[in-house]
Amino acid sequence: MKLPFRLAQRFVASENLNGTLPVLVDLKERGLHSTLDLLGEYVKDRNVAAAARDEYLQLIERISTEHGRTNVDRNISIKLSMMGQKIDEAFCLENLKQVLALAHEKEVFVRLDMEGTDITDSTLGMFETMYPQYPDNVGVVLQAYLKRTRKDVERMCELKARVRLCKGAYKEPAHLAHQKMSDIRDAYLEYMKMLIADARYPGIATHDDILIDETKKWVGENDVSRDKFEFQMLYGMRPTTQQSLSDDGYNMRVYVPYGKDWVPYFTRRLRERKENIWFLLRTLVKS
Ligand code: FDA
Repeated sequence: MKLPFRLAQRFVASENLNGTLPVLVDLKERGLHSTLDLLGEYVKDRNVAAAARDEYLQLIERISTEHGRTNVDRNISIKLSMMGQKIDEAFCLENLKQVLALAHEKEVFVRLDMEGTDITDSTLGMFETMYPQYPDNVGVVLQAYLKRTRKDVERMCELKARVRLCKGAYKEPAHLAHQKMSDIRDAYLEYMKMLIADARYPGIATHDDILIDETKKWVGENDVSRDKFEFQMLYGMRPTTQQSLSDDGYNMRVYVPYGKDWVPYFTRRLRERKENIWFLLRTLVKS
């Protein structure tokens, strides 16, 4: 059964790119940065993965043209599991090479989203393979809830790589991931400091006031210039806070997802916050 898109429209900009570009323009006009994400993940069919690669290539062309017209950010987020990572890693890497070659030509930055622990090593491996050739075009995501992450943060600091730090959105077992929010927050704050001090322009991706306030406090106390990092939030989450952070002089990037394959992304948003379920129920009652 296909769920109606209106259920997801608070968190997903549109089911197509044409409907999404005005959202990016509006963000830009309000001083906010964006990263554009074509939804889709864990593809099992080679042809579907090749089609996803082609769609990413078209997306890079399109965002580059749009940048020339409206100055929207040339910044996208992609999931390797959409380009065949679970089918054949060599095939996925070939797809990534094509995407990054075009991104380099068009000066587009490509963030590799981080997914479940079944592909963490593979994602970091592909990132490290491509990073020496495209240090200004590719970045990665680290998840503070994973117990392995300190060593990944250390490695990214050595590489001076661009990292988005988030808590982590997938259900992972206790031997791999912290389960208590206080432990996740402690880890997050430790990695935030390491990345801002020693990596390159990290994205502090969270809607959590405790983490946002601690970041602001730490950079203030340590005299860190505000252009050394950015905050990041998801489209539809805390828009007033997004705007006020930007108005206060912090770089703020909004992750804008679009596309027809929105159910897994939407389900993660419902799972991580009960208020989002109330919103969904209100939408259903109103219809
Ligand atoms: P969390 O949901 O843990 O809430 C903590 C507290 O923050 C709440 O108790 C409340 O006080 C406050 N809060 C949260 N949302 C609020 C709201 N809407 N209004 C008011 N208060 C609110 N994950 C992943 O595994 N791989 C990835 O690649 C990414 N990418 C990514 C990009 C960006 C830009 C973001 C912001 C997040 C991701 N994530 C992700 C998701 C991330 O791992 C995590 O699941 C969510 O951000 C939820 O964690 P938070 O820290 O945002 O708040």
